[in-house]
Amino acid sequence: MDKVAVLDFGGQYAHLIANRVRRLGVYTEIQHSNVEASALKGYTGIILSGGPSSVYKDGAPTIDAGIFELGIPILGICYGHQIMNQSLGGKVQGSDVHEFGVADLEVTASTNPLLKDLPTLSPMWMSHGDKVAIVAPGFQSIAITEDCDTAAVANMDKNFYGIQFHPEVTHSKFGSKLMENFLDICGCAKDWSMKSYFKDIEARIIAQTPTHKKIFLLVSGGVDSTVAFVMLNKIFGKDRVFGLHIDTGMMRMNESAEVVKFLHKADMENLKVVDDSDLFLDALKGKIEPEDKRHTIGETFLRSKEIESENLGFDPKEWILAQGTIYPDTIESGGTDNADTIKTHHNRVQGILDLMAEGLILEPLAELYKDEVRELGEELGIPRELVWRHPFPGPGLGVRLLCSNGEPVGKSNSEIPGLEAYLGEQNWQGLALPIQSVGVQGDARSYAQPFVLQGKHSWKECEKASTTITNRFRDLNRVVLEIGTLTGEYQVIPHYCERERFDLLRKMDSLCTDFLYEHDLYDAVWQMPVVLLPLTVQDKPVLVLRPVNSSEAMTANFCEIDPNLLEQLWQTLKEAGAGGVLYDITHKPPGTIEWE
Ligand code: XMP
Repeated sequence: MDKVAVLDFGGQYAHLIANRVRRLGVYTEIQHSNVEASALKGYTGIILSGGPSSVYKDGAPTIDAGIFELGIPILGICYGHQIMNQSLGGKVQGSDVHEFGVADLEVTASTNPLLKDLPTLSPMWMSHGDKVAIVAPGFQSIAITEDCDTAAVANMDKNFYGIQFHPEVTHSKFGSKLMENFLDICGCAKDWSMKSYFKDIEARIIAQTPTHKKIFLLVSGGVDSTVAFVMLNKIFGKDRVFGLHIDTGMMRMNESAEVVKFLHKADMENLKVVDDSDLFLDALKGKIEPEDKRHTIGETFLRSKEIESENLGFDPKEWILAQGTIYPDTIESGGTDNADTIKTHHNRVQGILDLMAEGLILEPLAELYKDEVRELGEELGIPRELVWRHPFPGPGLGVRLLCSNGEPVGKSNSEIPGLEAYLGEQNWQGLALPIQSVGVQGDARSYAQPFVLQGKHSWKECEKASTTITNRFRDLNRVVLEIGTLTGEYQVIPHYCERERFDLLRKMDSLCTDFLYEHDLYDAVWQMPVVLLPLTVQDKPVLVLRPVNSSEAMTANFCEIDPNLLEQLWQTLKEAGAGGVLYDITHKPPGTIEWE
């Protein structure tokens, strides 16, 4: 069987590259970036992934130069493109303008086999600060973007290709075609299937579970844990599986009741619900740092599980803990060598890592992405309305209620070099908000200020504003559009994880979900987090709507909802007590979907 090796330099999308190649019908394996050339003999093609480092910095991952002597076609992506060019005699350096999110790729060598059937111009997704300034001898540029004239390069004698953009993400419109072209260049037969992959997963889970152990699963009610629960029930039977749904006090309106209703209706009574909201809210008291909150929530899940197992009289030696972890949870938590921690997912905190090291955690979906989990869910016969519910993160509204000690943070417009002049040039009004949110830029975590764009703008202009502002100004990693505010200034307030703040967010979130259903938008939007900021206008709370479209959550684009409908939504939220509503117009990258 033909197989492709993906060398992992720590990029957010390294595993996704493997996933995409598999979807094109070719078996793929991920290898550490320091793999020796001799171990790669026998592969039909090699792909070098992206990564968060700069190739010219001390300690950056390197590559065995012997790999370039194997005579196997190579595709370098982002960091992989840069390290290949540097290793073969080219030069990489920091670029003046960084590119995050969408960029137009212009094909300049249309006869090149890597670019076969690509239009002259097409949108490709970027996430880089460095670029190949001088290509290695034997390479030529075959495609460019406005800010990068080495966006795609090729050495035809050797069958080596380097690209600065990410063809593996679905937002790169012709990315899949480009990857297929590379597989054709390698001469790979496409004889591998997704169904056989699900069978492999089942076999792995059975092999991994000691025959005398029972399985305890925390069921948040999100798509992943529901699919995992149903799958484990099917494999092991109800007697060996037990599900616990914990109401953390950070669930959505009626969330817990609905989850249980469905699972019980589907004959899965081996599920218990507990209200541990006091435990969670006590643990979060006074915390404002996003990572601190995330770690606390994850560890409290474990604590809550221990208390409930004791209450149920379960003997810990008989049980193994299962989780609905999917691959993005691992990679965003910095869970592979070379990868940066973007945000620690609730199922990747230290307590869990310790259990994993002892082989006491079972994760049936750990290799999958959301789109594949849904495919598997449908195959397992889970109703469509459940499989296609909007994703809801394990930490729930806990990562959508931004906290603050009341002190403004960051810089004003005039303190950000060049911002005022740039805004003037573009005739844009707006301000850097005195708060911060998490982003993902060049495969690394960012924690910076959002910029609020004021006035009326078309969606096209919004995209331009958000892309250019986040590309140019390191202090800003997100742009939001003001949909409606009361007259007055934004004030930072002390804001903590307290029950009545979650009640407020729950109410606002529920109004927004109703709005999506009423206007037939629920299926048109992939996910719409509603975020409560530590800001007020006229002493009333400020909210952010974050509607995005995505397929596997590794990249996303902001949705374009009819402005007239948004005006109606603002009126509804205002009546419910909001002082301002902002609309996130940032793609991922540079903004993550959740704000923290
Ligand atoms: P980000 O914010 O990283 O989110 O762009 C990508 C997707 O993951 C969800 N998410 C989580 N899901 N536990 C989860 O189960 C978590 O800790 C977590 N953090 C983010 C998020 O809602 C989005 O769908």
